[in-house]
Amino acid sequence: MHTVQIINSSDDLSGVQIVASERSAPSPEQLSVRMVKAAVHPSDLNYIRGDYRAGLEKLLWNYQESQPTFDAARQQPHPTMPCIPGGEGVGIVESCGSAVDSAQWLGKRVAVTAGPPNGTWQQYLNVLPQQAVALPDALPDEQAALMMINPLTALAMTRYILKAQPGDWLLMSAGASAVSKMVAALGRHYGFKTISIVRNRASADGNAGQLGDEVVISEEQDLARRVKEITAGRGVAMALDCVGGSTAEALIGCLTERGRALLYGTLDAPSFNLFSRNLMMTNATLSGFYLPGWLAAQSLQARNEALAELAKLSATGLLFSQVDAQYPLDQAVAAVKASTARGRTGKILLDFTG
Ligand SMILES: NC(=O)c1ccc[n+]([C@@H]2O[C@H](COP(=O)([O-])OP(=O)(O)OC[C@H]3O[C@@H](n4cnc5c(N)ncnc54)[C@H](OP(=O)(O)O)[C@@H]3O)[C@@H](O)[C@H]2O)c1
Repeated sequence: MHTVQIINSSDDLSGVQIVASERSAPSPEQLSVRMVKAAVHPSDLNYIRGDYRAGLEKLLWNYQESQPTFDAARQQPHPTMPCIPGGEGVGIVESCGSAVDSAQWLGKRVAVTAGPPNGTWQQYLNVLPQQAVALPDALPDEQAALMMINPLTALAMTRYILKAQPGDWLLMSAGASAVSKMVAALGRHYGFKTISIVRNRASADGNAGQLGDEVVISEEQDLARRVKEITAGRGVAMALDCVGGSTAEALIGCLTERGRALLYGTLDAPSFNLFSRNLMMTNATLSGFYLPGWLAAQSLQARNEALAELAKLSATGLLFSQVDAQYPLDQAVAAVKASTARGRTGKILLDFTG
């Protein structure tokens, strides 16, 4: 079988290779899934470029440690190279380990979540049953391959952390991203109001109808002035930033009193200048969000509540992800390049069926 592997960190993707390897049998507790499609996410690029590793090395619990971990308990190590990327995808359960109820799983089409060192960018993937969700026939493979990470991120940040209320204004960067378009859709559904920041007019036009109630084009318009106009002079109660750099700086300057901002990505830059009094004079709060860590911190009941809400919303089509292009596994490098192209209106997938 073939897998995509990260051999070493690289900005130019030279560390990404297609490798032929033996297919390993599932352990007694695992399902073996023949992958059909897998998502290409910015987090895959974070692994490819070494962004996570560089970020983790700055954390206190990794100080002077040779192997950085994602958690303070040092249970979740950053993968060593070579490793297989890919956070989610869809496939068919082809075989089951001896301890798995095969009547429940064998032959089922499932959405799977995984990650390096054993991610979804491989023809056959062994996962635990808790990493798989059986799918209704009506859900297309393209949506199934994208149904967990971004929808759950949008839902968790707005409903469970910020607890956006009807009438609240929420400002978000990378307005044309899949996550932001889902936040806009959640706003329309639950009644909070959204402002999408996009870089240029082409992005605003290409994603028309899927952006927030208001759109600010950052290359043409003054963000603070537009937000002041839109919010009748008060500023926004909530903000979401996945861009960093000057965008994050400007976005935090738009918070109102007791406003709350969440940082959840670094598409442009890993840091920014913070004008301290933007938080002090407003009593505003700035926090971070990382989905795996958030999920791990939830009680079973809270996690099930979020997943049940996600399933309900997904069934209505509210959390639909536009797909721009699909690439065969042997063109994974081209797929990653396509995922970084400016002005995309949808996600990129790997297609294992070609
Ligand atoms: N913390 C977490 O747990 C978590 C979970 C899921 C996702 N995320 C983050 O959420 C963000 C969005 O993910 P996604 O899958 O929704 O993205 P996506 O659909 O692949 O879209 C990426 C978007 O980002 C914009 N963009 C790219 N580089 C940019 C830059 N330098 N400055 C401004 N805008 C830029 C693009 O805008 P143009 O249209 O202008 O090209 C595009 O709209 C990513 O940062 C991802 O890592 C975080």
